[in-house]
Amino acid sequence: MTLSYEGYPSLQGDFEPARFNSQIHDCEIVGELPPDLDGTFYRVGGEWFYPPKYRDDSPFAADGIATMFRIANGSCDFASRFVETPRYLANKAARQQLFGYYRNPFTHEGEQQGQYGRADTQSNTNIIVFAGKLLALKEDAPPMELDPDTLETRGFFDFDGAYTAPTFTAHPKVDGRTGEMIAYGYEAEGLASNAIWLYTIAADGTVTSERKFAAPFLSMVHDIAISQNYVLIPVYGMVSSMERLQEGKVHWGWDRSKPSHIGVLSRHGSSNAVRWFTGPAMAMVHTFSATDRDGVITLDAAVSDGNPFPFFPDVEDAPFDGAAARTTIRRYVIDMNSADDGWTEEKRFQDKAGALSRIDDRFLGHDFRYGLLGYADEYLPFAGDAGGRRPVNSLGKFDLAGGTVESMFAGPEYGLAEVAFAPRSPDAAEADGWVMALATNYETMKSELVIGDTRDLAAGPVAKVRLPFKAPGQVHGNWVPRWMMPS
Ligand SMILES: [Fe+2]
Repeated sequence: MTLSYEGYPSLQGDFEPARFNSQIHDCEIVGELPPDLDGTFYRVGGEWFYPPKYRDDSPFAADGIATMFRIANGSCDFASRFVETPRYLANKAARQQLFGYYRNPFTHEGEQQGQYGRADTQSNTNIIVFAGKLLALKEDAPPMELDPDTLETRGFFDFDGAYTAPTFTAHPKVDGRTGEMIAYGYEAEGLASNAIWLYTIAADGTVTSERKFAAPFLSMVHDIAISQNYVLIPVYGMVSSMERLQEGKVHWGWDRSKPSHIGVLSRHGSSNAVRWFTGPAMAMVHTFSATDRDGVITLDAAVSDGNPFPFFPDVEDAPFDGAAARTTIRRYVIDMNSADDGWTEEKRFQDKAGALSRIDDRFLGHDFRYGLLGYADEYLPFAGDAGGRRPVNSLGKFDLAGGTVESMFAGPEYGLAEVAFAPRSPDAAEADGWVMALATNYETMKSELVIGDTRDLAAGPVAKVRLPFKAPGQVHGNWVPRWMMPS
C-alpha cells in the first residue's frame, strides 16, 4: 500500500506529522535560562505515523510520542520518541494503518477487529512521574512506562497487578503534600459500560483502596478534582453506547439533551456512596482544583456550555457550535449540608478563553489561590497564519481569590501549547517560579520552548529554547524538578 499524506487536510501545515525520533545535545537558547531551573519538561501528544483510516477521525487517535526538554545549568537537551504501543508496533509491522475510528474496535482491520484497550491505546495524553516511574497515560488503557532518560518504552504498568481496572485516567490527582494519588478508570467494566473504579495509591505505588460505582450514564470522564475531603467527578453529554460503536462511529458523540452531573464522594475511607449533583448541559473537560470547608466545596474549572470538540459530532448531526465550544474559567460551589442537588456557577474572566487549566501542583488537594491557563488574547497582534484560528498567545496567572490576572504575551509570531509550571524551589510560595509552554513559531514553522518568570510575566519570555524543526504535538506536559526525578 502506498503511503501518502496528500488529501488529508487535517495533516497539513502546523499538523504535518513528525515521523521520527530525535535527540539534540545542547539546544540553541535565546535569552538566558534561569540558572536555578533544574529538571525535565516531559510532554506527550499524538502524531499520525500512518494516516488515519477515516479522514474525519479524532486527533486523539494519533500515535503517542513523548518529548523531553532536560534543563540544567543554563543548558537544554531535547529528545523525542514514539511510544511503542501494541498498536504502533502492529501498524509498523503491517506498514499501514490497521485501526479505524477512535476507540471503536468494530472499525478496525483484520486481526485488530474487535480489539480495544491495551491493543488499541495510543498512550498520548499525559505524562507524569509517580512512584519513581515515568508514565505515559491514556484513559482507555493502563499507564505505559517509559525510560525517564531515553523515553524508550518499557511496557504497561498496572502497579504490580494491584490496579485491576482495564482503564486508567490521563488525569490522576496527586496530593501536593502527601504524594497520595487518586486515580480512576471509567468504562471500567468493558466497552460502553458506565462503571467507574476509583483507587487510592500511596506515594510509593502501593494501592490502598479500590471503590466501584456507576455514573448516571456513560460519559467521557477526562478529569476529576480532589479537595481536602472529597473527590469530584464531572459527567456530561459527551456520550457513547454499544449501539453507536456497532454503527461504526467515532467513540464519542455530543448529546445536547443530557444534563451535567458532578459526583461527590469522600476522598478518605472505603465508601463507594456517591452523591450526584445535577445542572444544565456543559462540558467540564479540565479542572483547576477544589477545596472544601465545613462541607462547602469550591471547584474551579475550565468549562464550555456545549461540545468543545469539533471531531466528536452531535448525536443528532446538529452543526458544530463554535460559541458553545468556547471554554472559560468558572467557579462551582456545592453545599454538602444542603438537601438541594444543584450547584451555583460563577463565570469569571470571560474575555480569556482557554481550555487547559492547571495549578501549582504542590497545592493539589489543599487550599490554593492561583490558576494557570494559556489563553488567546484577541487584542494582541498575530503575525502568522494558523488557518483562521487564533492560537493561544498568552500564559495567565489567575488570582482566583482576588479576581485579577498577570499574563505573559509570548509574541506575535507564536501559538502556545498547555502551560506547565516549575516552582522556584521545593518550598517556594504558591505559583512562584517559572511558566513554560511549547510554542509554534508561525514565521519559521519550527518549535520553541518559551519560559517566563511568574514574578514578572509582563516582561515576556526570559528564555526561548529553539528547535531546528517543529516538535511533535502535545496534549499535556509536566515539569519534573530534579528533586522529583526517578533515580
Ligand atoms: Fe486533559
